[in-house]
Amino acid sequence: MDHEQRAYRAALGGFATGVTVVSTAASDGFHATTANSFTSVSLSPRLVLVCLTTGSRTLGAILDSGFFAVSVLGSAQEDLSAHFASRDRAPGSAGFAGTRFTLDRHGCPRFTDSSATFACRVHEALPGGDHVIVVGEVAAYTSRPATDPLLFHEGRYARLEPAAALELAG
Ligand SMILES: Cc1cc2nc3c(=O)[nH]c(=O)nc-3n(C[C@H](O)[C@H](O)[C@H](O)COP(=O)(O)O)c2cc1C
Repeated sequence: MDHEQRAYRAALGGFATGVTVVSTAASDGFHATTANSFTSVSLSPRLVLVCLTTGSRTLGAILDSGFFAVSVLGSAQEDLSAHFASRDRAPGSAGFAGTRFTLDRHGCPRFTDSSATFACRVHEALPGGDHVIVVGEVAAYTSRPATDPLLFHEGRYARLEPAAALELAG
């Protein structure tokens, strides 16, 4: 990576995000990848998107199965994020050993203790340069609103520091 590429990535890194693990059940087993490109697209219909690099094994598996699940991670799930971002992990279902998950209505794994999960059907897969924009229609979701979120900022994990309570003028 040259200086200009590093500077560009650093600029993008100033955009703080949450962290998700995007997973699927394909004909050859489970696959999952850490992704912070998750975003809501539309409320009616309920559409979300995630941008996956064209080289992602999980991307191929999602396009094969037509379904995926998104697990929005809490602050206690940093290890899970690091695991599914690592290139060294065992591929496919073997990479899920030691993780705790249940299956959604499409058979996709969703991780226990996540702050929210979304069960999605692939609505569209759009070309996006060296990534593919996977748009999913949300068929079902779960939510644990009080879960402290895992954040990602400037290439590092971060935790939410609640803003100081506003003092009401008396
Ligand atoms: C915090 C974080 C966020 C990431 N977000 C994305 C993302 O949105 N899209 C993507 O393609 N890769 C993303 N990655 C990199 C993938 O997790 C990583 O390349 C993974 O090994 C791909 O696995 P796969 O080839 O099995 O799909 C992210 C990594 C980290 C640590």
